[in-house]
Parts: sequence; C-alpha cells; structure tokens
Amino acid sequence: MNVYDGERMGEMLDAEGMVATSNPDDADVVVLNTCHIREKAAEKVYSDIGRLRRSDGSSPTIAVAGCVAQAEGAEITRRAPSVDVVVGPQAYHRLPSMLETAAKGERAIDTDMPPNSKFGVLPSRPKQPRPTAFLTVQEGCDKFCTYCVVPYTRGAEISRKWGAIVDEAKALVDGGVKEITLLGQNVNAWMGEDDKGREQGLDGLIRELDKIAGLERIRYTTSHPNDMTQGLIDAHGEVESLMPYLHLPVQSGSNPILQAMNRSHSAESYLAILEKVRDARPGIAISGDFIVGFPGESDEDFEATMAIVEAANYSQAFSFKYSPRPGTPAATMEQQIPREVMDERLQRLQALLNRQQSDFNAATLGKRTQILLERKGKKPGQLVGKSPWLQSVHIDGANHEIGDMVTVDIISAGPNSLSGALV
Ligand code: 5AD
Ligand code: SF4
Repeated sequence: MNVYDGERMGEMLDAEGMVATSNPDDADVVVLNTCHIREKAAEKVYSDIGRLRRSDGSSPTIAVAGCVAQAEGAEITRRAPSVDVVVGPQAYHRLPSMLETAAKGERAIDTDMPPNSKFGVLPSRPKQPRPTAFLTVQEGCDKFCTYCVVPYTRGAEISRKWGAIVDEAKALVDGGVKEITLLGQNVNAWMGEDDKGREQGLDGLIRELDKIAGLERIRYTTSHPNDMTQGLIDAHGEVESLMPYLHLPVQSGSNPILQAMNRSHSAESYLAILEKVRDARPGIAISGDFIVGFPGESDEDFEATMAIVEAANYSQAFSFKYSPRPGTPAATMEQQIPREVMDERLQRLQALLNRQQSDFNAATLGKRTQILLERKGKKPGQLVGKSPWLQSVHIDGANHEIGDMVTVDIISAGPNSLSGALV
C-alpha cells in the first residue's frame, strides 16, 4: 500500500508541474513515505533525513508522509528540524497545499483522519507504464491485534466505493494494465453497494472486475481469516481471472498466543479455511505472515507454530521477530522474549518456510503455464514475469516484450525463481 500511496503522491506532484528525479541531490522536494509496522522500519526515516543534508549544509524541502508521520506527528520536527511537512496516510491529498505553505517558510503538519475523503479528492490516475498495478479498495483496521500499530496509524476500516474502484480499474486497463492487485490492510473486509444498490463483499467486487475486457489477472492482499467468507472462497473456484494465490496470515500456531494477540481465530479454524480454499481451487498457493517471540511465547507455543506451518504447507511466507510498538497492548505485556531466543526461533521457522517454498517451486517443474512479463532480466535478452502462483519466472524473451502474456514450460526451479521455455 505504501507503493500505491507513493505513486498517488507522485502523480499529484506531477500534476502540479513537478518532475520526478531519481537523484535526491537534484530534488527541490523529497517525500519520505514511511512505515511504522516494526521498529526497524520506523527508525529508517531518521537516518534517511540525515542523509538528505547536502555538502553545503542545505537540504531540500522534506516531507515525511505515511504511518511514522501519523504516529509521531509534530515530534518528528523536534527530532529532525529539517523536516518541513508532516502528513499522515489519510491526509496526503493535501500534500500540494502543504508544500506551498512550506515554500513560504512555515511548517505544515496534518495528521487528520477524515474518513474516506482523500479518494474523492485525488486526481484520476494517468496511464500506468506497466502491465501490473495496485489498486487500494479498503484501508484501515478494526481488528486491534495486540501487537499491531495499524489500527492507530491507518485508522478505522473503510471501504472505497464500488463505482470509484471499477472506474479506476477500467482506466488502468485502458492504459495497458493486465493484472490488478486489490489492496487493503483487511482487503477481504471490503463491503459496499454495487451500482444496483445491492450489498456486496469482496467476491462481488472481484466478479465485477472480472468482466472488464483486457483485465486478465486479479489478486488481492492482505486478508484476515475471519473475513474469509464462503462467497470469496467460492470465487477462487469460479472466477478464472482470480489468480490461484492467497496471502492469509496466521501469525502463530499456538491458540493461547493467538488469544493473547487478539486474533479471534484458532489454529484449527485457520486450517479449516485453508482446506475449504484448497477444495475450491486445487493447487492454490498459500502464503502467510508469522511473528516469533510474541510476549509469553514458550517453546511449546513456538513448536505449535512449526506444526501449523507443516500442516498448512506454504508456497511462500513472511516471518518477523516481534517488535514492541509504542501504544499497543503487547508492548507492556510481561514476559517479553529475549532477542537470542527470537533469533533462534526465526532461523528455525525460516528454514522450514524456505524448504516449503523450494518444494512448491519444484512441484511446478514440467508444468505448462502462463507468464505475464513484467521486467527485463539481468542477462541480455532475458525477461522476467510472474506465474499464476506469484513465482518469478525467467525466460529467454526473443520476440517478446514487457506486458506480453506468454505460455511457457517450466524447465528449472530454484528456491526463489523458476525458468521457463517459450511454447
Ligand atoms: N512486530 C512484528 N511483526 C509485526 N507485524 C505487525 N506488527 C508487528 C510487530 N509489532 C507483522 C504481522 C503482519 C505483517 C504485515 O507485519 O505479521 O501480518
Ligand atoms: Fe494489524 Fe492485520 Fe491485526 Fe489489523 S488484522 S491489527 S492490520 S495485524
């Protein structure tokens, strides 16, 4: 979502007559779009601000956007006086006017959370020079997992309007986009009325987008197990353009830890969802997120996480050491886990997840499948695209270009990517 937000901010500044540069030394304005999810991500902004100072002691106009801006607000300008603008993720439609304020030598800070207003104000998207695009449909979170800052930084769950989403998708496809990934912190909590006034969930929206000629692939991320409706599960079996890939974080395999995390699902209910999803779409790739070292996590709790990974069998997954976030309930829980224990657990978990990823990749060897070419590879003539299961596939791209959908036979499989031969 930060990529999407960054693109939208860039487009707004383009519309103001600014021109993007890849060299920070050439920039009059630098926008740092920041993440607060873990401490490491949040700290990065301060070292980045320091690095923007030029050899003559001057610095460009600096705007800090995103979740660190939301969480720390004016505190940022105390810690980093060279910052001119602080703008939260729900207020970035005001960035151009805030930069005008900064140009007059005044600081501009806006961490308001007006519900759903930025989407009504943002200019419509220009043509995207690429075959794949993100599209935010839902933002915010009401789940309040006890470790997580998102409900505080992104605010309450809101769904964008059906018509606005369909229009944005059509405009993307008109510009040449073939694959859209629908985004939301709780994307499967999306709900709204369709153009006939009927209540719809994410599955209804996906079925509507599936009708757009030229939109060949639909994905969505990230989902919460509790919002995995039967309708959405059925869509995986029925909507051909909905890719066979589901990112469904579980975080832990231990029920006491899941309860302490306020996840409101159990290990068993999570596995039961996966079973239904796999019944609907055999061979679907399942991905997840994990946190090791949540306060109070015993050896036995961690073994339960290893066990759920064995049972779920992931194609790919993300795993993190627990990072205490200021203001969240877990940050002040007793029994914080020592760093060495977290390190050791993360290593073991990642070894298992890597093995599953390699096995999943190896199982695609010999398959004939379609690849959407997204970028050039490192070797001359090489092109790289994604399989339906979100694996990177390298091909020798003679006569093809980025944006082509090609049929390939998978001829080799490594831990992180595959090679295909054009059919
Ligand atoms: N510490 C570590 N990982 C976290 N995540 C969210 N909050 C924290 C935290 N405080 C992870 C979760 C989530 C992913 C986006 O980031 O696994 O699904
Ligand atoms: Fe954070 Fe996701 Fe839990 Fe919401 S559901 S609080 S975004 S981890």
